[in-house]
Amino acid sequence: MFDQIKDGLQDMFIKHDPKMLNNIYGSQAVTPYWVADMEFPVANAITEELRRLVDRGIYAYEFNSRGVLEALVAWYGKRNNLSLNADSFIQVPGVLTGISLLLQALTEPEEGVLIQVPAYHQFDNVISRVNRKVVRNPLVINNGKYEIDFNDLEKKLCSENIKVMLLCNPHNPTGRVWTVDELQRLVDIAEKHQVYIISDEIHSDIVYSGHHFNSIVSLAYDKSIALLGSPAKTFGMHSISNGYIYTENQAVFSKVDALASAMYLDHGNALSTFATIAAYEKGEQWVDDLLTYLEATVGWIEDFIKEELPQVRMFKPEGTYQIWFDFSGLGLNDEELKSLVFHKAGMGLTPGSWFGAGSDQFLRMNIASPLARIQDSFERLGIEVNRHLSAS
Ligand SMILES: Cc1ncc(COP(=O)(O)O)c(C=O)c1O
Repeated sequence: MFDQIKDGLQDMFIKHDPKMLNNIYGSQAVTPYWVADMEFPVANAITEELRRLVDRGIYAYEFNSRGVLEALVAWYGKRNNLSLNADSFIQVPGVLTGISLLLQALTEPEEGVLIQVPAYHQFDNVISRVNRKVVRNPLVINNGKYEIDFNDLEKKLCSENIKVMLLCNPHNPTGRVWTVDELQRLVDIAEKHQVYIISDEIHSDIVYSGHHFNSIVSLAYDKSIALLGSPAKTFGMHSISNGYIYTENQAVFSKVDALASAMYLDHGNALSTFATIAAYEKGEQWVDDLLTYLEATVGWIEDFIKEELPQVRMFKPEGTYQIWFDFSGLGLNDEELKSLVFHKAGMGLTPGSWFGAGSDQFLRMNIASPLARIQDSFERLGIEVNRHLSAS
């Protein structure tokens, strides 16, 4: 199912949009691996549910918010051994909407929000759009693995008027899945400085063998809030999904719930609601198959890099379908690197600069694509890198 290449369907997909490609790559002749969505056909149960609704041809007001929440509770219980309470969710149109609402509810203009960089570029945007101050806590690389710099974190918490840490777990773009020990250390520091932790857990279902996702809400800290449960990344429902805020802190819940309902953001959409229920109730085997497929893709890329492109450093993802690469070993300047990867090899990877200053020699790849397409792209990249190396 994941091997199908459905060409000719992509006209309206942002990822393939010629204008976007021209803007980002200066060319539309690239195979795009940038936006973090997937082009795999969704689980049959989702399509069947959508077909049932469309076949009726009637779109009367119809929500089943309770059904969604119960499906989420059952899913997290089964998949993560996490015992959640259906009454502690607030449904919003998307995860970024949820983050924006939370920042507006928990902080004042100009107050600091801390993020770990490199970071998903919309974090910077959402914090800036609500007129809060972005404070960056750079991750450090130890033995080829990204880690949180806790000393820098504490220093910033002491000096930058920070009210919220906006965590990404699993982390986009580095692919880290934070361990319980790392999360506990974060919580201890947050508690000491009395800051909220908003944890964006949109990638929580995409975790590879040997790693385990732990939600921030499984640690005892009453100032923690998770964006837990969005079928977007898990089931490929990117443009037809909602986001779900979860907190057992009653004061936070009431404040955010009031803000969301004042803007009527908590209204459901029948198509996404019922598709979401179908996904969580009947899509488990599809997710397991997806994980197997993605894991094989990671393995293939890892072997290819080892054998054919040892100058490129790959940060093997523990979770997410994003892979973060360091191309600095090729010894190219930023423009030469773009020219080689984007134009000569035709690979539309996400520019590292989107994730923060100092990442120009890094590129992120979304691997939720048929493996044959990815293999073709890497073969081309291998040829171009070797051509460059033999010419220099
Ligand atoms: C960490 C993270 N949060 C949020 C989003 C977007 O979520 P939504 O479309 O629900 O706003 C993405 C999409 O790439 C993401 O990677």
